[in-house]
Amino acid sequence: MRAGAAVEGEVGRAVAELETPALTVDLDRLEANVARAAAYARERCLALHPHAKTHKTAEIARLQLAAGAAGITVAKSEEAALFAAAGFGPLLAHYPSVGPAKVERLVGVAAVADLTVALDSWAAAEPLARALAAAGRQAEALIELDVGLRRTGLDPAGAVELARRVEGLGGGLRLAGLSCYPGHLRGEGGEIEAGLAAVAATLGEAIELFDAAGLRRERISGGSTRTLYCSHLTPVTELRPGNYVFLDRAEAVGPYSLEDCALRVQASVISTAVPGQVVLDSGSKTLSEAGPPAGLRGFGIAPDLPGLEVERLNEEHAVARVGDGDAAGLAVGDRVELIPNHACSCVNLHDRLYAQRAGVVEAVFPLLARGAVH
Ligand SMILES: Cc1ncc(COP(=O)(O)O)c(C=O)c1O
Repeated sequence: MRAGAAVEGEVGRAVAELETPALTVDLDRLEANVARAAAYARERCLALHPHAKTHKTAEIARLQLAAGAAGITVAKSEEAALFAAAGFGPLLAHYPSVGPAKVERLVGVAAVADLTVALDSWAAAEPLARALAAAGRQAEALIELDVGLRRTGLDPAGAVELARRVEGLGGGLRLAGLSCYPGHLRGEGGEIEAGLAAVAATLGEAIELFDAAGLRRERISGGSTRTLYCSHLTPVTELRPGNYVFLDRAEAVGPYSLEDCALRVQASVISTAVPGQVVLDSGSKTLSEAGPPAGLRGFGIAPDLPGLEVERLNEEHAVARVGDGDAAGLAVGDRVELIPNHACSCVNLHDRLYAQRAGVVEAVFPLLARGAVH
């Protein structure tokens, strides 16, 4: 079957009749998640630039924009190119795009969409600025600040130094401000608030340095799914949550519960030959190998079968212990619905997403930017 092609007759079919494994999204939950974040952003006067690396899907990006999002965030330059070619913009490419092929791709994006890039090095900034200027294009630049994740991003002094050099470029890139990603904050309630106080302090320090140097900083981008509804505790002007649209087992804490999780893997029992377990047709190539959240076990969770625990994944097999509840009665051919541990890595394994409401497929979304790793 061609990647992304809908199988004839799938729209209108019951989810229970889809060939498995299949990835489904509950539209009622998805729409509620999108609306909740949009309402928060509106109330707090924050611009929402949802991260599309979670869903990689034009239809969901359109839903986010219709709910008031100001633009779409992507990571890789290929994602930017695919969303730009599908007519999306403004786009924020929040990943260091290093090397001539990626620079050229981003110049192509800037030709058809409003483009912003977030970067943390002169080596990423200068070739891009030069190529954009040579093509008569411009993109906005956000300087990435490390607020605790220790991944990408500079300290405040490094950020102001890079900002100065970007401002001095004279073309191609226009300094617009700062960016950060508080992805290290994974706790709940008070822990998030305390963590965000430290994020606010780091951002505040960078802002003071920018102001003292007379550097532009009208945009301050931040946000994550876990910290989303506390974002107003930091001096950000815009947010880039991604996973909030689907949510998953790892995010089902704090302001979210398993009830809010919109994404499911539909699986079937393919063997009960070994006593005490069932084998499902949803292995690591379907569910992803993302491990369980701290303190929990297993790969995904079956909300309707509390006793079932997926203990082991091979590529095409999920081996689950059944316990002595309802799961013990599972037979070959029975269906099991799983919420994955991590939605983003699970989605990237699939060609299409079945959008269902009340158990009936309403649409089939091709995963436009799946596998766009460059
Ligand atoms: C730079 C950046 N911004 C935003 C996000 C979205 O965050 P979340 O997955 O918490 O929604 C991510 C996720 O990895 C990210 O890496």
